[in-house]
Amino acid sequence: MTNIEPLGFVCGTKGDSVSFLANKETCLSFGQIVRIESGERTFYARVVNSESSSTLELIEQLREAEGKEAFGPYSAYRSVDAILFLEKRLGKVRSPTFNPNYRDKVYAASEEDCSILKLSGELEVGRLRSEDQLLGSVGINIDAIPRMMGMFGMTGSGKTNTELILNAQIIDNSPKTVALIFDFAGQLLEGKEIKPQCGLKDHPLFHSKVQYYSSRDGKMAIGLHTITPAKLDMLFPDIQPPQRRLAWELYRHFGAEWIDRARDIYRNEGNVTIRAQKVVTEALMQKLLSLPHDLFPASAYTFIDNALQNICKGVSCLVDISGLRSEDQNRVVCLLASAIAAHYKRMWEENYEEWRKLPTLLITLEEAHEFLDPNKSRTIFSDIALTYRKYRVGLNAVTPRPSRINFDVFAELWTKVIMKTELKKDRAYLTENTPYMEYSETEIKMLDVGEALLISEPKIKFAVPVKVSHYPEYLAKHSKVDYALPDSPPLSELDSRIKQLRSQDNVSLN
Ligand SMILES: Nc1ncnc2c1ncn2[C@@H]1O[C@H](COP(=O)(O)OP(=O)(O)OP(=O)(O)O)[C@@H](O)[C@H]1O
Ligand SMILES: [Mg+2]
Repeated sequence: MTNIEPLGFVCGTKGDSVSFLANKETCLSFGQIVRIESGERTFYARVVNSESSSTLELIEQLREAEGKEAFGPYSAYRSVDAILFLEKRLGKVRSPTFNPNYRDKVYAASEEDCSILKLSGELEVGRLRSEDQLLGSVGINIDAIPRMMGMFGMTGSGKTNTELILNAQIIDNSPKTVALIFDFAGQLLEGKEIKPQCGLKDHPLFHSKVQYYSSRDGKMAIGLHTITPAKLDMLFPDIQPPQRRLAWELYRHFGAEWIDRARDIYRNEGNVTIRAQKVVTEALMQKLLSLPHDLFPASAYTFIDNALQNICKGVSCLVDISGLRSEDQNRVVCLLASAIAAHYKRMWEENYEEWRKLPTLLITLEEAHEFLDPNKSRTIFSDIALTYRKYRVGLNAVTPRPSRINFDVFAELWTKVIMKTELKKDRAYLTENTPYMEYSETEIKMLDVGEALLISEPKIKFAVPVKVSHYPEYLAKHSKVDYALPDSPPLSELDSRIKQLRSQDNVSLN
């Protein structure tokens, strides 16, 4: 393979670590991918460290800098450390089986390397960053969705933009794929913080492929009559077994209207008809009375059924839960996610052929640390991350605080988009618990807005430096939708048809 000018040459190797001396005037950056030509092998490596110095002793350098003495001749040099991650030999690409040799030439990655590294995918995330250039497309495949994802980055690093880019393509790929998006800040519909402002409502398929639910228009109601005692854990994570038993007895006694009826009786009589310890009755009734009327009206309608039908048809659901109290946000999120995940599981178990027709689902969960915190009670989301892979239900856990995600769940996130993170604790958690990231801690701190490192196992087994596409630019490129309608007949054809009709009219009028 030819490339313009080499960046430098190898001056030492040890295991998977390579040092090379960079030529003068070459431009390099942390995380950059380089190619090393080594006989019949080609190696790919990522830049992880750099050092520059001269062959002079420190004291000589100082004296020369002060102008007291002139030393020479001497050489100044820049040595760069890189970690090998891939080897190509006889047309086969695999993990390195050996390392390069002294004086092998080192080149910057090119467009051609992009295709060898197989970085593109059905869902494009952005382009490969190589120093100041953007090379080929980098993306993940649809089959990466059920292998679970995570997006991490501090405030303003570009998480919402990346969510928009990914979900926009899930909408484009409908009905093969479908998205369920929980929007805690209410910003994805209009893209409030994206500049220039644009959100999912500007997606060309928004009206046919997306359903928007918001608590503000009253559409997001969960009728009390649809809540069985089995769902109480989702509504009240701290519920105790005696309260659960009482709930089941009330349910057996009153049927679907049990919450309504028990609340009325309790309000009037200070008790419920079922015998139970006073503390248990009080604890359960306080919980049931705390459900707000606007979100949990006394009816048999639930928006969850409607959302489930839409998901099965490939219509993505954007659920805006901004403005709700945080307990209610958690309730809506857990009830809806578990109803949909349970449907996929049931179909897989009971009607496999129908299950195969279901779109592959990605659930985007912002504030994921609230639901996957090892110190809090378990939620449906840890179950999804750990066991729903085979049902084609995927979770995209989005959070600025990855270190607050349960380790077992974190280990299951096979695709990770890592954006700028300054907190040392979070950076250490990311690099220590993600394969191929052990040398990237400094790099994560230095990423710019919209820059990320992407890993998507098993396809992309190393941290790829990516510039995520900006959603406004994505829209500008994709705004023309092909609705696959037949072409309209040319005007001349219409003209002659009208003339023909006119003459018939004349004939019949006569
Ligand atoms: N890939 C990108 N290219 C160019 N600009 C970007 C890119 N990603 C994000 N931005 C811009 O950076 C700003 C912050 O992005 P964004 O809202 O996505 O960050 P965030 O991580 O979601 O922040 P927060 O944690 O506050 O929600 C926006 O104005 C957005 O337009
Ligand atoms: Mg955001």
